[in-house]
Amino acid sequence: MRIDVLTLFPEVFEVFLASSIVGRARAAGCVSTQLTNFRDFARDRHRSVDDRPFGGGPGMVLTCGPVFDALEHVEAQDSGPLTRVLLTPQGRKLTQAMVADLAREPRLVLICGHYEGFDERIRSGIDAREISIGDYVLSGGEPAAMVLIDAVVRLLPGALGDEASAANDSFSAGLLEYPQYTRPREFRGMTVPEVLLSGDHAKVALWRKEQALKRTLQRRPDLIHAGEA
Ligand code: ADE
Repeated sequence: MRIDVLTLFPEVFEVFLASSIVGRARAAGCVSTQLTNFRDFARDRHRSVDDRPFGGGPGMVLTCGPVFDALEHVEAQDSGPLTRVLLTPQGRKLTQAMVADLAREPRLVLICGHYEGFDERIRSGIDAREISIGDYVLSGGEPAAMVLIDAVVRLLPGALGDEASAANDSFSAGLLEYPQYTRPREFRGMTVPEVLLSGDHAKVALWRKEQALKRTLQRRPDLIHAGEA
């Protein structure tokens, strides 16, 4: 997979893209990433990318020119199919099912809005999926793009050391994950459930299934009923 990120703050992605699962997936060749700064496509000598809103009001609005030019520039680098994603609090709320869909695409082009907003013609003139990561307002789409990249990349074949671990994740089976323990067997008086030390794989599997169900019922009953309606 190839992921292009269009942003006014490419530097905030650098440590993120080099670390943890995403860093390892890039090193292993599961995914390549490219950062592009809208500001490199500004048309005036001040390199401005925003302007005052028509009709008045507070704040500045991201202008069309640099965004369309940056998009056309990165898209021309590869003629294959691509999926554009505009990160915005007005988009569809991201779910694990949407993440799994995006993980099957060969190329994602992520567009991060910033400042108080962007010119409506960026939304209407670009054929993009609009995605929100939740009902709160961030200062820009960058943290949302990182959330999306992390969730997508961990599903790419070869990205995780152990292929089974993505399948066990919370939400992948529609349930929260069961509790996990490692050594020591006792820590500050807190012990590990006996069944996990029993060596009985069938019993362990049953216990984990029960725990996942119990947790989900307690904490997120909405997930159990999500498929009904
Ligand atoms: N940009 C600002 N807030 C956002 C959100 N909640 N999701 C995606 N992009 C955003």
